Parts: sequence; C-alpha cells; structure tokens
Amino acid sequence: MTEKAFITTALIYANGPLHLGHIVEQIQADIWVRNKKMQGVDCVFISGDDAHGTPIMLNAAKQDITPEEMVKAIYIEHKNDSKDFLISYDYYGSTHNETSQEIVYDIYAKLKQQGLIDSKNILQAYDETKGMFLPDRFIKGSCPKCGAKEQYGDNCEACGATYSPVDLIDPYSTLSNTKPTTKESEHYFFKLGSMQTQIESWLSSAPIQSAVGNKLQEWLNSSLRDWDISRDAPYFGFKIPETDNKYFYVWLDAPVGYFGILKNYADTANANINFSEYINPNSEIKMYHFIGKDITYFHGLFWPAMLSAAEYKLPESIYAHGFLTVNGKKMSKSKGTFITAREYLDKLSPEYLRYYLATRLADGVDDLDLNWDEFATKINSDLIGKVINIASRTSGFIHKKFNGKLACELDDKDIIATMLKAKDTIIQHYADRQYNLATNKIMQLADKANQYIANKEPWKQIKDPKMHEQVHQVCTTSLNMFKIIITYLAPILPETAKNSMSFLNINILDWQEIDNILLDHEIKPYKHLLARVDQKDIPANNIS
Ligand code: MSP
Ligand code: ZN
Repeated sequence: MTEKAFITTALIYANGPLHLGHIVEQIQADIWVRNKKMQGVDCVFISGDDAHGTPIMLNAAKQDITPEEMVKAIYIEHKNDSKDFLISYDYYGSTHNETSQEIVYDIYAKLKQQGLIDSKNILQAYDETKGMFLPDRFIKGSCPKCGAKEQYGDNCEACGATYSPVDLIDPYSTLSNTKPTTKESEHYFFKLGSMQTQIESWLSSAPIQSAVGNKLQEWLNSSLRDWDISRDAPYFGFKIPETDNKYFYVWLDAPVGYFGILKNYADTANANINFSEYINPNSEIKMYHFIGKDITYFHGLFWPAMLSAAEYKLPESIYAHGFLTVNGKKMSKSKGTFITAREYLDKLSPEYLRYYLATRLADGVDDLDLNWDEFATKINSDLIGKVINIASRTSGFIHKKFNGKLACELDDKDIIATMLKAKDTIIQHYADRQYNLATNKIMQLADKANQYIANKEPWKQIKDPKMHEQVHQVCTTSLNMFKIIITYLAPILPETAKNSMSFLNINILDWQEIDNILLDHEIKPYKHLLARVDQKDIPANNIS
C-alpha cells in the first residue's frame, strides 16, 4: 500500500501581508513535501488563513469594512504569494467557513461530554468607551516590576516580567486612550490538566526535536493550567453553542482549521481523498505540522489534548523552526528590515530564496539570518557558477557538432557512479530537514563535475578532429552529471528542474529515474535556465 501523509504549515493571520518570515516556514515544508513525493509518498499538503480574533475585527473596523470583506481580500493575496514562491499546496483554505465550524462544534461537544469544559467568572479589563473587553495586547502601562513605561499588558520587554494587565501601573486602553475598568464575565475553560497523561503518552511516542520535547516536558512538569477558550462579544469568530454572546477564542478554532481545510479540499472535484480516513485515530496516515517555535505551546499541548479527548487523529510530529532575521536584525517595519513576500517577488526569483534558505536551514529551532551579500554570492557562485554552468559549458558542442544527440558511451562511468552514490544520503538529509547538509553535499558533487570538465578541456580538444568522439563522450558525461545534480536540487528548485527536464528532453525527474543514464538521446537546445542575481535588485533599504 502506498504510504500517505498529511502535511500543514501554520495558518496565517488574515491581518496583513505575507512576509519573508512566513515564507521560511512554507519553503521548509515545501522542500520536505517535494522530497516525500519524489519518494512516491502520497502527500496532501495544505495551509490557509487564520481568519478570526480581535486584531482582525479591529483592523477591519479601522478600514470601515466588515471582517468578512477584509479576510476575503487578504486570502487572495496570501494564496497568490505562496503560489508564486512555488509552494505546492494541494489546497489553500481559511478557518472562516461552515465546514471548520462544524468540526469545531463536534470537538467542543465531545470535550463537554467528557466533562472537560468548566465555566467560571473572571475579572477582565474593559474599555467603557469602546464597550468591549480588552485583550492583553490592547492595554499598555508601566511595568509593575521595573517601572518601564509603555509596556504591554502581558509582559515587559524591558525586564522580561510576565503579569496580568490588571497589575500594570497607570494602564490605558490603546483603542481609546482611556483608563480601563475591570468587569466580571463568565468564561469557559478547557481542563487541560485532566489530559496530562494523554499528552505525555503522545509526547513520548512522537519523534519530536529535542529542544521542543524538552520545552513541552518542562511545561508538563509545572502543572497545566485550565485554558480559557471563550471571548465575549464583540468578537470575530465562531459563536459558542448555547450562549448568546460568547465566542470561541481564535486559538481554539485555528488548529481545527487544518481539518476544516482538509475537508474543504476533499470536497473539491480534483481531490481523490477520503476525509474520514485522515482524521480517524486508527488510520496509518501520518500528520505533520510545520510551525514556528513561538506556537509550540498550542501545537504541542492544547492541540494533542483536544484531539485525544475528542478521539481524532494526533500528529505524528510537529516540526518547529526558528525565526528569520534580516542582516542580523529582527524584521521590523520601522528599521526597514521588514520585507513582504510581494516586495521580494517583484524583484527576485523565488528560487533564489528557496536555495539560500535551504543552505541555512537545519532541523533545530535556531533563528536564521538572511544576509543579502551572502545571498547574492551563494546564488551566483553555487547555482550559476557551479550548477547551471555544467550545462551551459557543454551543451553547445552537442548541438554544434553532434546534431543535438548524446554519445552512445560515457567518457567516465566512475564519476557518474560517484554522483549516484550520494543519493540515499541526500534523500535522508531532506527527510531529516537538514537542508544545509543536503546542499553542502550537492555542491561538493558540482565542484567535482566542474573539476572534471576543466581537466578534459573540451573547448581545446574540439579543435582536433581525432578527438571529436572523446569530446562527445565528455559532454555526455557532463550532461548526465548535470541531470543528477538537478534531480538532487529538484525539491528546492522546482522551476529550474522543470525547465531542465525540457532541455534534457525527459518526462520525469525523481528518485527512481535518477539512475537512468542518457545515452544516444536527443536533447533540446540550451536555453538560459537561471539568471545571476543582480545587486540592484536586492531590496536596497535592507542592505545595512
Ligand atoms: N495564526 C497563527 C497560527 C495558527 S496555526 C493553527 C499564527 N499566525 S502567524 O501569521 O503569526 O504566523 C504564521 C507562521 O509564521 C507561524 O508558524 C510563525 O511562527 C511563523 N513566523 C512568523 N514570523 C516569522 C519569522 N520572522 N521567521 C520565521 N517564522 C515566522 O501564528
Ligand atoms: Zn519591567
């Protein structure tokens, strides 16, 4: 039976444009999925927008449109940005639809049945002018510990203290600049502590990165607090059944959106999948979530607890990554280091970033830096100088002297065997998300190929008619090395791989096909496969 997998990236808040940090995650997951597909695994790869919550509601109000209108417009942008970065989602959806709501209600009903929902009255900050309860991030004031001014209601950026907004000194609402009052309200809680054993048993069986596993264990060791899953109106989200003015907190319905989106996909004409098979706890299908390390708590504690209690399928693993910085700095609008996906795409090829990030991405949660000088050097020296060069230096002879046909024999069988020997290692590096190791290995092979061509000097040999057959075989060996190297890079460079396929006149590039040597085979004229990075296209204000 074919192995099946369901892969997700985190759902993007429908509250602003996609930026390069979001893209890191999507590229990381996409490379992984493409490798799996090349291995013959039947993958369903989805993502979408996370449409609910207070910030989205307020942002829409500011623009004088409804939240529905806002999330619709942003959805189209997000979807196109991902597509243009060559992210191969089978479906890009949203949490704001009836299908998602039905699954949320089903899970909630099951949690309730099991006695896992509690309600209690809590005191919360309230903005009298706006007539609404204030989330922590909408209250500012001075830190109760160190006195630093202008700190958010949940933690102090100056001293790191965490506290509740009611503890702030001189608090004010960032919505109305008035002093918040406190008001009592009934909230619903998910009794996370009652799921401790189930979470622990999932954690002990899931192959989780050690840094993530340790963090989760640390949280599990300090007892788990009940989780507040409700918010008062006005709120943009799903109403809680049997209440008039309570909504589910966005983080309750967000991960359920993975299933909602999967079901939306299953309901389309192109899909050939059985949704229930994917959520059935006993099915063999493996579910993987790619996430940023900031949302580990939600994916590693709340989500498995909800799924386990409601008897749905649990993730096989969650793969967390670190944060992207640009030229060593946090992405920030005011410092000009914030780059939207579209700003990048307007200037540069998506494959440049895919390759550059691959050289920096490992399986840990360390932050990674986009250094623009290194970016340009890596593309120009690795991709153009080492890889594309193999084809551009040798294909001309095939067309000018040998009617576009490769020789019937290789000049050097051993060098091809050396290239092919790396296959299992490279596949494993991709599967382990050690793309830095994969690209390193591939560039070593490209160096070998260039060394070979430099030693053979076909441009000199061609002047001697007696050497023509030798040149034919040298170029044939070189183009076969090119084919192998481009196959190795295919998960990272899908577009160049596709164009290389038409140049080499072959129909597939995958891990099975890589062993076929092209002999006595007609190729198409070489057309430029990838251009050099032009310094002028690098977002100028981002070079520090
Ligand atoms: N909506 C939630 C996720 C819900 S998943 C059920 C969310 N959205 S987000 O838009 O803020 O972030 C989406 C993903 O992008 C997250 O995994 C987050 O960690 C990641 N990143 C956001 N900024 C990032 C960087 N600067 N660098 C790398 N990843 C970043 O969280
Ligand atoms: Zn402080």
